[in-house]
Amino acid sequence: VSRVIPVDTFDLVIFGGTGDLARRKILPGLFRRFCAGQIPSDARIIGAARGEMDNDAYREIVAEAVREFSGSHHCEDGTLEGFLEKLSYAHVDARGEDGWETLKQLMSRDGRIEAFYFSVAPGLFGDIAKRLHAHGMVSPTCRVVVEKPFGRDLQSARELNQTLAQHFDESQIYRIDHYLGKETVQNLMAVRFGNVLFEPLWNSQYIDHIQITVAETVGVGGRGEYYDRSGAMRDMVQNHLMQLLCLIAMEPPAKFDPDAVRDEKLKVIRALEPVMPHHVVRGQYMAGEDEDAHPDYRTAVGDPRSKTESFIAMKVNLANWRWAGTPFYLRTGKRMSARSSEIAVVFKPLPHTIFEDVEHGTNRNVLAIQLQPNEGITMDVTIKEPGPGGMRLIDVPLDMTFAEALGPEVEDPPDAYERLIMDVIRGNQTLFMRGDEVEAAWAWTDPIIAGWEARGDVPKPYESGGSGPVEADQLMARDGLIWREIT
Ligand code: BG6
Repeated sequence: VSRVIPVDTFDLVIFGGTGDLARRKILPGLFRRFCAGQIPSDARIIGAARGEMDNDAYREIVAEAVREFSGSHHCEDGTLEGFLEKLSYAHVDARGEDGWETLKQLMSRDGRIEAFYFSVAPGLFGDIAKRLHAHGMVSPTCRVVVEKPFGRDLQSARELNQTLAQHFDESQIYRIDHYLGKETVQNLMAVRFGNVLFEPLWNSQYIDHIQITVAETVGVGGRGEYYDRSGAMRDMVQNHLMQLLCLIAMEPPAKFDPDAVRDEKLKVIRALEPVMPHHVVRGQYMAGEDEDAHPDYRTAVGDPRSKTESFIAMKVNLANWRWAGTPFYLRTGKRMSARSSEIAVVFKPLPHTIFEDVEHGTNRNVLAIQLQPNEGITMDVTIKEPGPGGMRLIDVPLDMTFAEALGPEVEDPPDAYERLIMDVIRGNQTLFMRGDEVEAAWAWTDPIIAGWEARGDVPKPYESGGSGPVEADQLMARDGLIWREIT
């Protein structure tokens, strides 16, 4: 199943090469691609950061990160050494002149693909871009990769876009939203646009509502300082949930090419209606049973008066022909009962049922797309209960768990970062956010956040390990609905 499509050779510079993201995701991801045989033998990976160290010391840091974070992989003995040989280290000062010429020497500049990964605070994007430019390292074909948070509102996102635009063309900028790299997220597009079954029904005439849930069991952990300034809206909704919503709601693009796909996503964001205050529920988690291990949100972030939300549920409407009248319910939170991300497309009931058994089957189809864990798709259908009891109806899932359908190789699918980094090298921007998309997403979320601030909105407490505040259930109940169980 796992076909490895080779990529052209490259020089990849990772600014923030010793940082958390590099150690947890980027370098282990590259290692796994190396194990899969996808990294060309003469490719180079250069870690760049402020500290002084030699290549050996850097390789040691990377070796540790790979051992800790690359998970189960199919690598033979000695492979790690092979990977480490591709690595070198450059000490550069993003805000000064130190190290830039050395970095330039490390790159081969022989026409191969060059990519710069800005795994640093957004405040440094401009400094790094400016120096790359000044030292003649920006070529028309080089690529730059940036991470979220891409701004904290429309204004700051615009400024970041303008800063990058001074040095790079939009076609060179890869804004990562790692949810787009997840296997099943891409499958959303395959399912919708690769089958004749779904698309004719994919509208408000047949779909009652859609639920998008991204539940996590973790709390804010050691990221309290960052998180408390963001909250679930900025950290998850503005990017990850919004991207999922776009893929579900967008019109079929004319082809699977970066701008065709992103044009359609942008239209979805622009069609989002402003959200009414009573259509949003914010929550903050309480302490778990073991308070030392699982303190409450405010203790975790070290601010006893914090008004930042670690949970959000909202009802969202799209003002366009396809979706008017079909609400989207979004929900995401930390310290919930299970780690589970799911999109459930709930179809309308039958216009008329010919069966007398009204008690059992619901006469309602549900297409549930499980993003993680246990990637797969189920379709609830109503059938006759087997046996002689007459025409009694039951709902059963038509279950396609990918690992079962496709074999064990998909049990360990490439991590989102692996896929996205390889897409950067291939020059494929389809799974990356365009500047106008990010700005449109902020333009929609800004007034919601501003409303909370103006009203001094205080999040509702919710139980650790539960399904969020009771007000989130009431949000659904008002529409005669219930949330899908988080399992
Ligand atoms: C990140 C958020 O973007 O996504 C985190 O900053 C969150 O707060 C994470 O935990 C979730 O990603 P995943 O891949 O574990 O679902």
